Amino acid sequence: MSVATLDDLLGEPSGVRGRRVFVRADLNVPLRDGRPSDDTRIRAALGTLRRLLAGGARVVLASHLGRPKGGAKPELSLRPVAARLAELLGRPVAFAPDCIGPAAEAAVAKLADGEVLLLENLRFHEEEEKNDPAFARQLAALADVYVNDAFGTAHRAHASTAGIVAFVRSAVAGDLLREELDHLRVVRGPERPLLCLLGGAKVSDKLAVLEALAPHTDVLAVGGAMAYTFLLAQGLPTGDSLVEPDRAPDARRVLAAARAAGRELLLPVDHVIAEKLEAGAATRVVKEVPPGWRGVDIGPETAARYAAAARQARTIFWNGPMGIFEIDAFAKGTEAVAQAVANSSARSVVGGGDSLAAVNKLGLGARIGHLSTGGGASLEYVQGLPLPGVVALERA
Ligand code: 3PG
Ligand code: MG
Repeated sequence: MSVATLDDLLGEPSGVRGRRVFVRADLNVPLRDGRPSDDTRIRAALGTLRRLLAGGARVVLASHLGRPKGGAKPELSLRPVAARLAELLGRPVAFAPDCIGPAAEAAVAKLADGEVLLLENLRFHEEEEKNDPAFARQLAALADVYVNDAFGTAHRAHASTAGIVAFVRSAVAGDLLREELDHLRVVRGPERPLLCLLGGAKVSDKLAVLEALAPHTDVLAVGGAMAYTFLLAQGLPTGDSLVEPDRAPDARRVLAAARAAGRELLLPVDHVIAEKLEAGAATRVVKEVPPGWRGVDIGPETAARYAAAARQARTIFWNGPMGIFEIDAFAKGTEAVAQAVANSSARSVVGGGDSLAAVNKLGLGARIGHLSTGGGASLEYVQGLPLPGVVALERA
């Protein structure tokens, strides 16, 4: 990566003591009852923050939360995140009720060396997602130096991830962003065989990544409801499973691309089926989904095949659940895949909320090479797309 890093910044003779450092992190965490219900992304931001604070920086931290669509939504305030961050850092975290303007400027002016302030949700201003230059300039005015550590948002060209770079004197990558790219680069230029496990509900959501990976991936194993569109595309029965008939030609194109490149594309050969999508629903394991039933998970034989592929792989990338993972009875395939990735000696990267939830539920996190904090960002990166947040740093 040809971008300056936190090491470069901290290694400068002037250091960061007394300097105002704007840190863009991805603190977009789920909230339940006014508290973060999963603080993984807050923890992931700690490394960079601790180094800057230890160096005496005045840290101005910013993030988005959810999709408020350009207006202030109290339920999407970052205030609860500031509280959790304070607990994790073991020091106070000030909070500014707006990310620009007098409230933000006053809060920044009060910062002493080694203190941190969290700004309110960037997306309360529609200019953030529009990458508006005037808004970016206002953000930049709060600081002397810019650190981008928001890997999870690196695929968005927004004011705080891209536009701001034009208005700061120096812009560097934080430790999380650097570490994520180091791991994901291994998937882009893999030791082979490379196994990609892709799950999720819809072919339409994953079409770009399927098209990009199919010709380059030694084994591409597909799960989740999107597998049924692939089966449909081959004229196989799918019962009442979720399918996208208008995507069947796309699925056929992906299959043909894999075949033409001499790659393997694995689809489920057995299924867990249910008549109703609810906890406690009766399930069966079948080779073909009959009418009136829906495929809700990959079956045990499929899970065993995918596990065998994981044993043979040298590099593994996994994104997306193999079934309706939220319901325990439909989660076995996803859990089997999590176990197989953990057991494999391959270098592995797992991204996406549901895949990470499966890994964490089984306590397998320490046995996975890298757990990415970016679902969409890691998918875009491994398919070879430039990440605007990274491109902006490269140009700086
Ligand atoms: C995410 O969770 O996907 C990132 O924080 C980016 O959020 P977005 O998908 O709403 O842009
Ligand atoms: Mg997203």
